[in-house]
Amino acid sequence: MNAGANSSLNSIRHELEAAWKLRDALFSHTEALRVFHGPGDSLGVLSQIAIEKFQDHYWVIEWEKGDGPQKALGDAVKKELIEFLKSKAARSAVILERPERGVPAEAKALFGTPPEKIAVSEGRCKVWIRFLNTRHPGLFMDHSPLRLWLLENARDWKVLNTFAYTGSLSVAAGLGGASHVTTLDLSKPTLNWAQENWELNGLKLDQSRFIHGDYFEWLPRLKREKQLFDCVILDPPSSSTSKNGRFSTAKDLVKLHEAALDVLAPEGVLITSINSANVTLSKFESDVGLAARSRKRSFEVLREIQQPVTFPTKLGDPKSRYLKGWVLKALE
Ligand SMILES: C[S@@+](CC[C@H](N)C(=O)[O-])C[C@H]1O[C@@H](n2cnc3c(N)ncnc32)[C@H](O)[C@@H]1O
Repeated sequence: MNAGANSSLNSIRHELEAAWKLRDALFSHTEALRVFHGPGDSLGVLSQIAIEKFQDHYWVIEWEKGDGPQKALGDAVKKELIEFLKSKAARSAVILERPERGVPAEAKALFGTPPEKIAVSEGRCKVWIRFLNTRHPGLFMDHSPLRLWLLENARDWKVLNTFAYTGSLSVAAGLGGASHVTTLDLSKPTLNWAQENWELNGLKLDQSRFIHGDYFEWLPRLKREKQLFDCVILDPPSSSTSKNGRFSTAKDLVKLHEAALDVLAPEGVLITSINSANVTLSKFESDVGLAARSRKRSFEVLREIQQPVTFPTKLGDPKSRYLKGWVLKALE
């Protein structure tokens, strides 16, 4: 191996160790952690990867660039990565190669024997994490602070969690003492996973409702049912297609929020969050404002939603700050 290749492997090891050290104080509080966030933790080839730790098993996500198979990780880099993870007592890892466009293939073993699924604790919340026969582990680690906030604030609330994915925010609200939680998602397998997570935490099925369906079909339906919620959670993907059409956060934030406000109780709490790097904070703020005015509602900001320290951003790169939102309290 030549000296240049050696020094680039050294810098890779240095970046991995530096990211690990940054999170040192967090390991004792949780079994689930993003231990490496390339867009903020790396200036080199590793800026295209993320690594998540679930107990002693790991997910490596690799974002490919361009149309061709331009892998971030050559064999030498992969070997360095595996050695690093083994030095941290990792028992196995899977890797997901995410193309710039289109759907990735399922995750595959990088080393060791990954389990099919394990129950992992993040503070008081337990979640099923899958490693095999899946394209995603089942937990968005960037919403960890929001789960903590719900654990501390959801007492006695009737909650509607839309775009709920595997329902980790529903679980946090339920464990936080919510009186009832409705969990809505378009994907049936994901909604089933949300129900498994609810049951894993010993939460009661009669204090929950799981709705498989489209947000734009179900929100008007809940309004017609005259349902009002003390808390509505709105965390849509950047774009989505259902049998009723296609929406994107770039175009449809006003109508998304209007539908949520139609079922929000007076003095209710609206949690709104997007993970769209292409929508600026000011556009998001102005669209939420337009929806609020059209529904004659006003709000105070209880909390800003931002990336946690485990998802560092890069100075001068606004796109690395993709997660944005607010916890808003309606004023009557
Ligand atoms: C960004 S994830 C939400 C993450 C979740 N809030 C969490 O913290 O775990 C987006 C979810 O929206 C769901 N989804 C996409 N389009 C939808 C639609 N039209 N109606 C309801 N759910 C939808 C997807 O199936 C996916 O589970």
